[in-house]
Amino acid sequence: MRMDCQVIRLAEVRVTQEQEQAVISVLRSGQLAMGQHTKEVELRLSSLLGGAHCVAVSNGTVGLTLAMAAAGVGPGRDVVTTAFSFIGTIEPVIQLGASPVFVDVDMDTGNLDIAQVEAALSERTAAIVPVHLYGRPVDMTALRSIADRWRIPIIEDACQAIGAKHVDGSMVGSSGIAVFSFYGSKNVTCGEGGLVATSAPEVAERVRLLRNHGSGVAYEHQAIGYNGRMTDIQAALLQSTVDRVGAVTRDRRAHARYYDQSVHNPHLVKPPWSEADGNCWHQYTVRTHSEAARDKLRAWALQLGVETRVYYPTALSALPLVRKLGFGRSCPRAEALSKTVVSVPVRESLSESEVVQVGEVLDGWRPDL
Ligand SMILES: Cc1ncc(COP(=O)(O)O)c(C=O)c1O
Repeated sequence: MRMDCQVIRLAEVRVTQEQEQAVISVLRSGQLAMGQHTKEVELRLSSLLGGAHCVAVSNGTVGLTLAMAAAGVGPGRDVVTTAFSFIGTIEPVIQLGASPVFVDVDMDTGNLDIAQVEAALSERTAAIVPVHLYGRPVDMTALRSIADRWRIPIIEDACQAIGAKHVDGSMVGSSGIAVFSFYGSKNVTCGEGGLVATSAPEVAERVRLLRNHGSGVAYEHQAIGYNGRMTDIQAALLQSTVDRVGAVTRDRRAHARYYDQSVHNPHLVKPPWSEADGNCWHQYTVRTHSEAARDKLRAWALQLGVETRVYYPTALSALPLVRKLGFGRSCPRAEALSKTVVSVPVRESLSESEVVQVGEVLDGWRPDL
C-alpha cells in the first residue's frame, strides 16, 4: 500500500485546451455576459436533458431562488425539504421569507424519506424540494404522486446530479423543474454556475424574466427580479464539458462499482449499488458505526494518501443557526448520518492505481488501527 505524501484529492478541476481557447475567444469578443456562449450552452444542456427549457444562471443557489420565486415561495409559505443537505438548499427559502419544513431521511440513501413527506404538507406548503444527494436520484414517481394529489409543485435540487437518470431512464432535469450547480467540486464545472431546467415553458419564461431584473426588454420591468445571469466566460468553460457528461458519469460509475465489488469491510456500510440505478456518483459515501470511528478512518486514510470529506457534518435541521431562526426539528436519521458519513474520491480523473488505492484503504481499515 502506498505511503508517500501524494494525496489523492477528492475533487480536482482540470481545464482543457479547448476550454482555455473558448475563454480567450470570449475575452476577445467584447461580449462578456449573456452572449452567444450562454445561448449555446443552454442549447447543449437542453439537448442533454431531453429538450427541457434551460436557463443558465450564475450559480445553483441563485437557480433555486429563481425557481422557488417562480413557484410562489414567499412570506407565510412553507417549503418541505430534506433535513440532510447543503445550506444552499434552504437559503433561498429563508431569503424569500418562507419557512423550511424538514423531513427526515432514508438511512441507506440519505435522500428524503418519501413516506414522511405527506405528514409535513399543509395548505401553507408552496413547494416540495427533494435533493438528489450525492448524485442519487430521489424516487420521483412516488414523490410526484403525493405532490400531484396535493397540487404542490416540486423543485428538484439537482445541484449534485448532472448526468443522473431516473428509474425510467430519463435524465434528471428532463421533466418537472430541476436546478443544477456547476460549482468547482461538481461532476462538471465552470467554477461557479447553475441551471434551471424545466419541461414547463411558462416556468422557463418566468425564470428568464427573474434572472434579468424582471426585464425582457431593456429598462421595462414586469417584476422585481434578480441579477442571476451567467457570464459568457462561465458559459465558455462549461460548453465543452456538457459534451463530456456521459463519459464523466460512466467513469465515476465504474469507480463506484469497483469499490462496491472490492470492499468487504464489516466496519463500514457501503452505499446501495445497483447496475440499474441512475446515480451519477457525485460522491461515494460510506458510513462508519460511530463518529469516533469516522475520525479514525479519516486520519488513517489521509496517512495512506487518500483525502476524505464529510458531507455534511451537521444536519440542516440541527444547524445552530437554523434552530435559532426557529426552523430546527428533530430528525434523528439525518443527525446520525451527519456523525457517520464520509466520502472518498470517485472522480473520473482517478487513475486505475488510485482507484485500487482508495479501495484498499476502505477494505483494509479497522476501528482499532
Ligand atoms: C445540494 C446542493 N444544493 C445547493 C447547492 C448550491 O449550489 P451553488 O454552490 O452553485 O450555489 C449545492 C452546491 O454547492 C448543493 O450541493
